[in-house]
Amino acid sequence: MMEDKFVKQQGTYMLSHSVGLPLKTTQSAADAGFWQPWSTGGENVWDHWLAGIQRFRASLAKLLNSDSSQFCPQSNISSAVNKIIFSLPRSEHKKVILMSEEDFPSVAYALQQSSVLGYQIRYIPRNLDLNNMQVWDEYLTDDVALVVVTQVQSNNGAQLPVAEITAMANERSVLSLVDVAQSIGIIPIDIQLWRADFIVGSCVKWLSGGPGAGFLWISADVIDQCEPQNVGWFSHEDPFEFDIHNFRYAKDALKFWGGTPSVHPFVVATTSLNFVIDLGVETIREHNLAMADRIINTLAEGELVSPLQPNHRSGTLILHFGDSHGYIANMLKSSDVSFDSRSKGIRLSPHIYNSVHQIDHLIQTVSDNRR
Ligand SMILES: Cc1ncc(COP(=O)(O)O)c(C=O)c1O
Repeated sequence: MMEDKFVKQQGTYMLSHSVGLPLKTTQSAADAGFWQPWSTGGENVWDHWLAGIQRFRASLAKLLNSDSSQFCPQSNISSAVNKIIFSLPRSEHKKVILMSEEDFPSVAYALQQSSVLGYQIRYIPRNLDLNNMQVWDEYLTDDVALVVVTQVQSNNGAQLPVAEITAMANERSVLSLVDVAQSIGIIPIDIQLWRADFIVGSCVKWLSGGPGAGFLWISADVIDQCEPQNVGWFSHEDPFEFDIHNFRYAKDALKFWGGTPSVHPFVVATTSLNFVIDLGVETIREHNLAMADRIINTLAEGELVSPLQPNHRSGTLILHFGDSHGYIANMLKSSDVSFDSRSKGIRLSPHIYNSVHQIDHLIQTVSDNRR
């Protein structure tokens, strides 16, 4: 049983869009990769720890089909975005950063800091359909320097056509930054199918990898043009050279790294990355879609707020029960279903650890309490 691999749930845990449940093996793996080298490693402790971070990069590369040298560990997505913005090659004519009003606010807060560099943010209004390529055709204008593409938007449960959007941006010489926070681990991703310049993500949600293991990926086409401003000795080509007058960027994505890195979050996350690689994101997605269909098939008209079409759907269902909404939400809570709410409705995320039995219990609770 797949759910036996994870720590025991309290009731029915449907919050994988927020924090995935940990694997039972995570704690001992973190002990082995972080605590033991520290308590026994003496002066070699950093060799062990850096090897752990290297394994994190290698696992991400395997999961997303790219090269580990293109990944740089980051503490979270917002700070990765900030580092990218301040590293971009300057252009006199391209001063707009394009994003959607439905993107994650923290990413916007990080991007808004680019006003000191002369950038201005242009928002695609939230009522426009981002699966319609005509919208992108209209908004990807000559003055856009960078477009943000959030593969899965957290408030509306929509999955965007990243391959098409990044291809269009690339054709128009617009740099693209893809946020995979809500898609990694649940939607199969092959970086080779995209024309992205930057990808940012973390492991805390569907990957069950805990907080603190963020990352950025950079394309080989732009890496040499980027000059991060937020650096430290681990961004240096040779961190142990110690020549105060000679900073040189690392040749790979580690130029975005910084000072002494944290280690524990990456050791924790690598365990779950490897679990997901072995199981296959396709398998997790198949189960997710099957459980989502089971719920969708019982809904009344208008209750499904997130998209119906499987390739536009994310891992998360957003539901609104009209006049019964508050009552049903309370009944779900009291029957031990864990979920959260956003302006459009409640968010439910069926993961591999959610059984058919749990989903049927949820469906029953909803149907018993419609008014
Ligand atoms: C689409 C998206 N981007 C980013 C984040 C989080 O960003 P950070 O890692 O900076 O907290 C979230 C978190 O919910 C998200 O849903």
